[in-house]
Amino acid sequence: MRVYDIIEKKKLGEVLTDKEIAFVVEGYTDGSIPDYQMSALLMAIYFQGMNDKETALLTECMAKSGEMLDLSAIEGIKVDKHSTGGVGDTTTIVLAPLVAAADVPVAKMSGRGLGHTGGTIDKLESFPGFKVELPLEGFIENVNKHGVAVVGQTGNLAPTDKKIYALRDVTATVDNVSLIAASIMSKKIAAGSNAIVLDVKCGSGAFMKTLEDAKKLGDAMVRIGKEVGRNTIAVVTDMNQPLGNAIGNSLEIMEAIDTLKGNGQGDLTELTHTLAANMFVLAGRVATVEEGLSLADELIESGKAIEKLREWVASQGGDARSVDDYSLLPAAAKQMDVVLEETGYVAAIDTEMIGKAALVLGAGRENKESIIDLGVGLIMHKKIGDKVTKGDVVATLYYSDNSHTEAAIRYIKDAYTFSTESIKKPQLIYTIIR
Ligand code: URA
Ligand code: CA
Repeated sequence: MRVYDIIEKKKLGEVLTDKEIAFVVEGYTDGSIPDYQMSALLMAIYFQGMNDKETALLTECMAKSGEMLDLSAIEGIKVDKHSTGGVGDTTTIVLAPLVAAADVPVAKMSGRGLGHTGGTIDKLESFPGFKVELPLEGFIENVNKHGVAVVGQTGNLAPTDKKIYALRDVTATVDNVSLIAASIMSKKIAAGSNAIVLDVKCGSGAFMKTLEDAKKLGDAMVRIGKEVGRNTIAVVTDMNQPLGNAIGNSLEIMEAIDTLKGNGQGDLTELTHTLAANMFVLAGRVATVEEGLSLADELIESGKAIEKLREWVASQGGDARSVDDYSLLPAAAKQMDVVLEETGYVAAIDTEMIGKAALVLGAGRENKESIIDLGVGLIMHKKIGDKVTKGDVVATLYYSDNSHTEAAIRYIKDAYTFSTESIKKPQLIYTIIR
């Protein structure tokens, strides 16, 4: 078999065989296929596309390029959740204890990564003492004992996806639905769960800017799940404004705690309940999403969800008192209100720009070496549809030194667009693909 012939075949729009796809992934993994040939093949795929079977096979081969986690020592159906990423997204920290409180095991690996705030793993480190690194046995033991564990990605999951992604990044071949779907799903499959709930974001703060593209991506991932035998559903949700009001690490932890106590803001509560309800269905815990939603409500109202958070934090070495005493969490030294000069209704928010405001204050990483300040960030007081009168506070900054507050204020003010007419609040859940 020659790579040249495989590139030629895809260039002409033909379907690649299982053997050809496996040959390419193996060859690229072991270095026998050079970057220039892989680049040419990726560009051919970009223009000619792949069918469901080719996409699923590429996914499986990339998943198997490294370690495949074996979670069989955990009883029950393990349902993983993945978000395609946005700004101020605190869902995992609400979902993990909420789902575990229903006796559905949560065995999750999460990332740090670059971004406007830290990833889930960075946010969790806001709990004093919380250990995000556990050996695999400890991870599984914690899930069996407490129903939940969330750790930083260990081992070597889907290394070939990482290598291919780096190549796509420099060859203008990232934005192809089959390639994105295969990339995301290869990591989820290697992470060992039986079923997967995907939160596919769309809007100004998301990877997919339009509903149409988000639906295509969700659909492609659901079909991969079907082909490889992992029950998968995709919830397509709005990211035309940050989720919840808090953007920052310990600020988002407080927001997650509030949500688990039943005092959350509308959109984070709606999203986490919807995702939890779908996870309950996939786990066989309830028969319908409606029953799942009622169960989520009940777990919040009875205090079982927040009690599970305390248990979880303690089980990973964290100080569970911080769940009830926020003064134990990291805090910024200073606060400042951002005041608006406009009167009207919030018509749109440039989500990326709000994210940048949090980033310049030190809430996220600009590069791999950046050090996150867990206490800093911002709280938004106005979201799409809200009425604003000149002099209103639109956001509060939490910061430790003055050097970047001016830039943050500029970003926040520039992010808002106003209308003189009243604006409807945007829909949060667009569709669910099964
Ligand atoms: N996220 C991924 O993990 N892979 C992609 O290809 C795009 C976004
Ligand atoms: Ca938030």
